[in-house]
Amino acid sequence: MVKFPKEFLWGGAVSANQTEGTFLQKGKGWSTADIDKFIPETERNSGPSNNLVTRTDIEFAMDDEKGRYPKRNGIDFYHHYKSDIKMLADAGFKMFRTSIAWSRIFPNGNDVEPNEEGLKFYDKVFDECLKYNIQPMITLSHFEMPLNLVLKQNGWLSRKTIDQFVHFAEVVFRRYRNKVKYWITFNEINVLEMSGFTSGGIVADNVKNNIETRYQAAHHQFLASALAVKKCHQIIPDAKIGGMIARFESYPGTCKPEDALANLKANQNNLFFSDVQIRGQYPDYFARFAKENNIQIDFRQNDKEILKEGVVDFLGISYYSSMIAFDPKSSEGKKMTSGNLKLSFKNPYLKSSDWGWQYDPIGLRIALNELYDRYQIPLFVVENGLGAKDYITKDNKIHDDYRIEYLKQHIKQVGEACEDGVKVLGYLIWGCIDLISAGSCEMSKRYGIIYVDLDDNGKGTLNRKKKVSFDWYKQVIESNGSNI
Ligand code: BG6
Repeated sequence: MVKFPKEFLWGGAVSANQTEGTFLQKGKGWSTADIDKFIPETERNSGPSNNLVTRTDIEFAMDDEKGRYPKRNGIDFYHHYKSDIKMLADAGFKMFRTSIAWSRIFPNGNDVEPNEEGLKFYDKVFDECLKYNIQPMITLSHFEMPLNLVLKQNGWLSRKTIDQFVHFAEVVFRRYRNKVKYWITFNEINVLEMSGFTSGGIVADNVKNNIETRYQAAHHQFLASALAVKKCHQIIPDAKIGGMIARFESYPGTCKPEDALANLKANQNNLFFSDVQIRGQYPDYFARFAKENNIQIDFRQNDKEILKEGVVDFLGISYYSSMIAFDPKSSEGKKMTSGNLKLSFKNPYLKSSDWGWQYDPIGLRIALNELYDRYQIPLFVVENGLGAKDYITKDNKIHDDYRIEYLKQHIKQVGEACEDGVKVLGYLIWGCIDLISAGSCEMSKRYGIIYVDLDDNGKGTLNRKKKVSFDWYKQVIESNGSNI
């Protein structure tokens, strides 16, 4: 039996763009997530749907009356938040992570005054959480930004976006300073490495060197994150504000030194983003990577100081699966499989989900140990879970034993990591309420312990129903992880 710290924060996570809905209502403006189209199974690849989006794609989506854009409606959390939060309270949640849609507060991103109706909505959501002693954890930017900033200035490629974001951050810090004590600046900031539009609002037209633009946009997000951290500490002295990466724990494909080197590079590629957010400076290995990839960052005089002054308090990670790395010269012909946002080589020792994501609970323990060794700051598992198809059986129940098994194995390894001496603040199930998939916009890939009656065609009553995993997770929380 593993032991968790007494104050361990158990709970679950969602994002605004995958749940809220109320498209262009209540003062909300267009966001990048609103142009994410549903992708039928036959047309899917492993990465985010819209890696390369052009201005024409955006204009088409804005006028398209026939296409399906599921994130516009989400699971209508906007109108269900009370009963949803009540259900989370029934499960004993101590924390609920969601994001604030920037376009709900500043519909165009550059408005002078915030949208009061949007601010009031989050007041109500946070009050509802606090009523049940659930701590809200709030992500400032989770895969969306006001579309106007994309069309006007190419999103995070523009330095102007930094100030607009920091203004947004300051407004919400002031407004919610008595309600929200846990913040994250950017969801999976490293995703910018592969997904220019979803993470950075970069339009693909006229962009000469994609990798360079993405790293330039990342530089702007690093600065925005650091400035937001500083503001948060000034406005809410007792708050904790974290960075976050999607952790792609990676193993060498063999013990051949060339494979070990390829693995080192894969890990550096992933950890570059947390290195900057935690150490407040670019790591030395980045110089060679930049040279070899023709990346020249517009790094201005004050930037160094800004990064130094805005280091994060903790590191949040999402963790779904692990990967393996081979020397590029000998990797040809090796079998590949999907993973969260990235393809990976197949690991013969691991099982995969129906979406091909190879699950690896021990990898989570390794990841936590390695990250803690590297940074020596508290860690937080802010996303972990299994995407699976769920069915209501004759007894009117959803027997998601596969999900229980996945969560059980992963939670056990988090406990092992705690016993290894790693400081882990908490564990949040991703998509605790079924939501729209980030990558494919489908509904069939469900993560929740709470079922939502909605299908891939947008049909359903939106009624919520507790799955069998709900009762299981409730007793995990009740026993502080001793009864998994
Ligand atoms: C994470 C994101 O990368 O993966 C979530 O932060 C996302 O927004 C989750 O939903 C799972 O990915 P998907 O594509 O299965 O929804």
